[in-house]
This record gives sequence, structure tokens and C-alpha cells, in this order.
Amino acid sequence: MLRSALLNVMIKAAHKAGRALKRDFGEVEHLQVSLKGPANFVSAADHRAEEILCEELAAARPGYGFLGEEGGRREGSDRTHTWIVDPLDGTSNFLHGIPHFAISIGLEREGEIVAGLVYNPVNDELFTAERGKGAFLNNQRLRVAARRRLADGVVACGLPHLGRGDLALGMREVAAVQGKVAGLRRFGAASLDLAWVAAGRFDAFWERNLSPCDIAGGLILVREAGGFITDLDRTETPWRSGNVVAGNETMHGELIRVLNEAAKS
Ligand code: IPD
Ligand code: CA
Ligand code: CA
Repeated sequence: MLRSALLNVMIKAAHKAGRALKRDFGEVEHLQVSLKGPANFVSAADHRAEEILCEELAAARPGYGFLGEEGGRREGSDRTHTWIVDPLDGTSNFLHGIPHFAISIGLEREGEIVAGLVYNPVNDELFTAERGKGAFLNNQRLRVAARRRLADGVVACGLPHLGRGDLALGMREVAAVQGKVAGLRRFGAASLDLAWVAAGRFDAFWERNLSPCDIAGGLILVREAGGFITDLDRTETPWRSGNVVAGNETMHGELIRVLNEAAKS
């Protein structure tokens, strides 16, 4: 498979940061028993990965802006392009030794996400997409699942938890969806949730209060795999509000309907 120069830049950066994350992940187990605890170490791993990504991407595309989940925004001389990066999505999983986390990179050009990458360094699954050129898992073309009925669907979500999100609303939404689907999942890395919708593993996904860094890489994967991803009011720029619903056309529509009903109840 022939990849564009742009995707090669993103992949090289993700591989380099991924090697660092994987090394650090190997250390987390030893830290579980240390008195200092692993939280500081994980936060350092997060920052290290972001610096690697920022350096690599800047070396290849000098002038592009950079928005990182850890370090915030760094303006570039080219105001039309911004990298939107989460160096470690799934921090809680990482911290707990659960091998389900990812690097997420999106490229915004004049308000549109035009390229995306989500990479899990543990199992080496690399999801990439570019506008108009399809979505891929490694070299394999992706297509969202074809199932049409929520009743047949395995649906993923993000859940509010201690200190984060609206617990009562989250419970109403889960209660409403749970009874209508074949299975509900909460895996803890939003970028991978989106990548797995693109890959047809999940039929749909929703979560509220995400950051643009959680969403940018996965958004274009879903769209290029033939799926739909919007805000709960169907706005096409869900990274602005952070509220996301994704799936194929019918699952996406059905899920929005159920969630909006739950929000009103
Ligand atoms: C989190 C993960 C998680 C989602 C949270 C995010 P982080 O990102 O994507 O799945 O539920 O809302 O903040 O903090 O691990 O980068
Ligand atoms: Ca994140
Ligand atoms: Ca993060």
C-alpha cells in the first residue's frame, strides 16, 4: 500500500512516541508496588510522548500549529494547519497496567480534520485515514459495521466518573441504551473507541465532554470508513462541544434519538 508523505510523517512520529510509551508501560508494573506510586511516572511518560510527537511533527512540517492534550496550544507561522494530539489516550488503563491505550493525531486544515491516526503501541494496531482516501488498519481497508438495528449492535460509551461529567445524566443514558442493544462496552480510550467503530468492531459509540485531542484522530477514521460522527444535535464539528455520537448511518441516528430522549426524561 502506497501511503502519502503526510501520513508517513504522522506514522513516523507515532512509532517513535509509541516505542517510548511501550517502554514506560513495561515499567508501570514495577511501580505499582513502590511507595511513590505510578501516577507521577505516568504523567512524565505522557509529557515525554507529547514532546517526541511535537518535535517529530515540527521537524517534518515546520510552521504548523500544535495542540497537545498535555502542553496546550503552540501557535505556528502557518495559521491554516494545526496538529491536534493526544500523546496518551487511556491514561487510567496505562496506569493500571491495562494494555488498551493509544496515541491520537489529527490534522486540522482551515477548520476541517483532513488526516487522522490512532496507534496502539502494545498490539501495534495502526489506524490511519486521509480525507477522500479511505481508512485503514495497518494495510487493510476499513468499513464500518453493516448491522442496522440497535438490537444487534455492540455499542461503546464513555462514562462519567468521580469528579468528571454529569453522573445522573450518564446513568439515564446508560439505562436507556442498555435495554436496546446486544452489548454495551466501556473500554477507556475514546480514540480507540472511534477507531474500533471505523473497523466495524463496535457498531456505535457515544461520549460527552471529550477534548478535541480525544476526537480529532478518530473522527476522520469513522468518516473515511463510511460512518457518521456528529454532536448529539447532529453538528458536524463534535470536537467543538466534545459530545460525540458515531456509527453507521442508521445506528448513529438511532443512538442520537435514544440519547436525546434519555436527556429529556
Ligand atoms: C480519556 C479517555 C477516556 C474518556 C475520557 C478521556 P485520557 O482520555 O479517552 O476513554 O472517557 O473522557 O479524558 O485522559 O486518558 O487522555
Ligand atoms: Ca484523551
Ligand atoms: Ca491524554
